[in-house]
Amino acid sequence: MLRTHHCNSLSTADSGKHVTLIGWVDTVRDLGGVRFVDLRDREGITQVVFHPDRADIHAQAHHLKSESVIQISGTVVKRDADTINPKMATGEVEVTADTLTVHNVCQPLPFPMEDDKADKVGEDLRLAFRYLDLRRPRNLGLVKTRAHAAQAIRHTLEGEGFLEVETPMLFKSTPEGAREFLVPSRLSPGTFYALAQSPQQYKQMLMVAGVEKYYQLARCFRDEDLRADRQLEFTQVDLEMSFIDREDMYALIEKMLQRTWKQVLGVDIPTPFPRMSFQEAMDRYGVDKPDTRFALEIVDFTDIFKQSAFKVFNSIANTPGSVVRAINAKGLADITQGELINLETIAKTLGAKGLAFIKAENGEWKSPILKFFSDAEKAALKERLNIEDGDIIFFAAAPWTQASAILGRIRLESARYLQQRGKLDIPADKFNFLWVIEFPLMLWDEEEKRFLSAHHPFTAPVKEDEPLLDSAPEKVRGQHYDIVLNGVELGGGSIRIHNPDMQKRIFENVLKIPADIVESRFGYMLKAFSYGAPPHGGIALGLDRLVAMLAGRSSIRDIIAFPKTQRGQDLMAESPAPVTPRQLRDLRIAIVDPEDEKKKP
Ligand code: AMO
Ligand code: AMP
Repeated sequence: MLRTHHCNSLSTADSGKHVTLIGWVDTVRDLGGVRFVDLRDREGITQVVFHPDRADIHAQAHHLKSESVIQISGTVVKRDADTINPKMATGEVEVTADTLTVHNVCQPLPFPMEDDKADKVGEDLRLAFRYLDLRRPRNLGLVKTRAHAAQAIRHTLEGEGFLEVETPMLFKSTPEGAREFLVPSRLSPGTFYALAQSPQQYKQMLMVAGVEKYYQLARCFRDEDLRADRQLEFTQVDLEMSFIDREDMYALIEKMLQRTWKQVLGVDIPTPFPRMSFQEAMDRYGVDKPDTRFALEIVDFTDIFKQSAFKVFNSIANTPGSVVRAINAKGLADITQGELINLETIAKTLGAKGLAFIKAENGEWKSPILKFFSDAEKAALKERLNIEDGDIIFFAAAPWTQASAILGRIRLESARYLQQRGKLDIPADKFNFLWVIEFPLMLWDEEEKRFLSAHHPFTAPVKEDEPLLDSAPEKVRGQHYDIVLNGVELGGGSIRIHNPDMQKRIFENVLKIPADIVESRFGYMLKAFSYGAPPHGGIALGLDRLVAMLAGRSSIRDIIAFPKTQRGQDLMAESPAPVTPRQLRDLRIAIVDPEDEKKKP
């Protein structure tokens, strides 16, 4: 290599050695004619000294630009006691240079590289120069964390007898999933591949093929609206096993995550992880991925308001399937007008007419609706919500799903406001893993007026619920499990259907997918299931989310080397981008503007 040591390795034990280092110019300082260059590589920093008696390189060192790539040779020297830098791993030594080669001169930087300054620069500029952004030691640290996590996961799975198998990215379009990316076929004009949303169907075919234990760090593609925890392409720790039940899967994933947290963070995670039913998660936290690091739980008052003089609550409390519920945002009575409006907006976006509240301040309750409440209702509120001075109560009266969604969001926002005020402490090193289980197999979709799979159509129903499939599909539980960490859905999976008749019944009778579509999209699967399909199940964990949690980052963009922006763009390579008419002709594709089409006679 072009070096004898990396920039984090020299110590007093190396004094007197002649070494060669290569890396980036971190800083240049001039102290009384002596020039100091902090030389940085992936591993760390070493101070290099240029003395005036080496006139040639001393002069050259004066002109070194930050982030240029240089190579130096020199002698390791122990620093005087008063110049030791205890903050640097190599702070007890420096290298007195006798040669200097400049390999690449860095242009003026588009943004400062120090973390405190760079963090304030717009993300778009940093992503356009992602190679510079990544070069910052903290961000290279995130690249390392990701690699270490992937290594720990592979190590556990290999140890458990899993075989890594690659599956195609060019798959075909299937109904029932997220929106797909289509890829036109040149060889069969007019037909399309779809980029795989996940290796789901292939991994099930691997089980039919007898692989028994499969895993893959798989790239997945979904044309979704992007958020902090969603990308168009992302990575799954994807696995599938034959001859198992749900308990085997819980034990495996707990072992894998426990080892990963130990190896990457040195943190001991207790197992087994707690389990909570979907119903309980929705009732207490308003979401199927509850953050259990703090309380602020939802409390039911449907029974209390059935005879209420407050008409809104009374009528909803008496509507089957609807509930009147509340949370106590403990200590948030000092909420600002802006914050309150934000909470109201959230409730309204989720379909509420408004967000009723009660403030307990200076020994009295204040609320526009207090006048409608009886003493008994007030007593019930006070008792069940433990209302004290300084609290604020928020209500949602709505169908169960909607009330859960509203209070679930209000709970998280309130927690954020309380944290900002120092009234709620969520330690950064608290990792609340949780299995969410007993999901319904299907959820009614109001828009499509039919049932949709809560997970995906390959999930097996709970055995004893099978007789309800035709009569009361909403009551059938699925053998589905989600692994949740601190309010983030890390992964999900299920025990699958391996009986072709049951799979066909789910597609056609329950999900109401027309028979010809079932045949064209899933025919091969149904056929495969009649050639010796073993009982099997699996799971996929979002690796990006997992690493973001390990690294304490709130956006998965931070731990993806080359992420897309919120608008789905790669600002560095400038994609997506137009292609030539020739390329389109080869694919028999025409770009049509729907506005122009409308104008045609
Ligand atoms: P699912 O669709 O729940 O399951 O995905 C599994 C996990 O992948 C992550 N994830 C994402 N991460 C980043 N960006 C996205 N757009 C994105 N979408 C999903 C999440 C999620 O929990 N084949 C099934 C798994 C199975 O049944 O085995 C599947 O894909 O962390
Ligand atoms: P109204 O009598 O409709 O003016 O509502 C009185 C208060 O209750 C207002 O503060 C509304 O924002 C609130 N409110 C109305 N409907 C609901 C509901 N379904 N859930 C919670 N609060 C509501």
